[in-house]
Amino acid sequence: SIEFSLRPANLNQYIGQTKTKENLRIFIEAAKMRNEPLDHVLLYGPPGLGKTTLASIIANEMGVQFRATSGPAIERAGDLAAILSSLEAGDVLFIDEIHRLPRSVEEVLYPAMEDFCLDIVIGSGPSARSVRLDLPPFTLIGATTRAGLLSAPLRDRFGVLSRLDFYDTKDLCSIVQRTGDIFHIGIDGDAAIEIARRSRGTPRIANRLLKRVRDMAQVKGMDRILFDTTQEALEMLQVDPAGLDHIDHKFLLGIIDGFRGGPVGLDTIAATIGEESQTIEDVYEPFLLQQGFIQRTPRGRVVTPKAYQHFHREVPEA
Ligand code: ADE
Repeated sequence: SIEFSLRPANLNQYIGQTKTKENLRIFIEAAKMRNEPLDHVLLYGPPGLGKTTLASIIANEMGVQFRATSGPAIERAGDLAAILSSLEAGDVLFIDEIHRLPRSVEEVLYPAMEDFCLDIVIGSGPSARSVRLDLPPFTLIGATTRAGLLSAPLRDRFGVLSRLDFYDTKDLCSIVQRTGDIFHIGIDGDAAIEIARRSRGTPRIANRLLKRVRDMAQVKGMDRILFDTTQEALEMLQVDPAGLDHIDHKFLLGIIDGFRGGPVGLDTIAATIGEESQTIEDVYEPFLLQQGFIQRTPRGRVVTPKAYQHFHREVPEA
């Protein structure tokens, strides 16, 4: 599919995340020299920054199979045992949202990660006994929004912990141009910069906005994406010049108008605007914090003068 072909296949094609890439290049090369699987890797950071993409690139660079699943998809210990026992030597097993693995499943993972074995209980009652099954050596790559969501014993079993950061405008611009090439559509420099600026530091959002801008260009009968078309499309999508969308606006204005700028507890503001606390915390807040629109304090969320200015509101006296 086109979604799949948008994904870079190796580290050289992967734009941005320089530190993570540099580190991974060394670890991959060393593991290959030793003829061993790569140590287990935990990738963490906000959604849409390329954790799944990076995991599939690691498998590619190691020359092994990529097997993907997610925490919520593995309900019982037996589900995980089935996946683990079907792996081949060196394979990458990717578990997205690994913090959502049930506790009973997590416990199967510990000996699998540490000693490449499965402890299975056969039978029940007095005749129950435990057998140990060997697994092929493999690499677990876990992905989560925050490393702190994992239990300490699970987090401690990863040899490589890598945080993905928001992308800068220059890197997002390169990603937008790369996607334009794949779509066989030219994008003017100022149009690509505009899409990049409004993408919340997130490649997934940049590519989504590009698709909608391309739709607009197409219905206008244009074979190239220009700045004016880009602005018009983004306005229709209610993505503002800073990349904030309808929900960011509800959240920030909710604190400004309903709580005099805060502090307000996350659950309180979430209930007020009718959104899930977890979604606000994982999807919306990281970018608003990074951009300095809000701050977290022990007493709750506070909007900053920058947020008032963004909405052309007067900054209240301290
Ligand atoms: N597409 C989405 N994310 C990308 C990245 N980091 N590099 C290249 N292409 C991408």
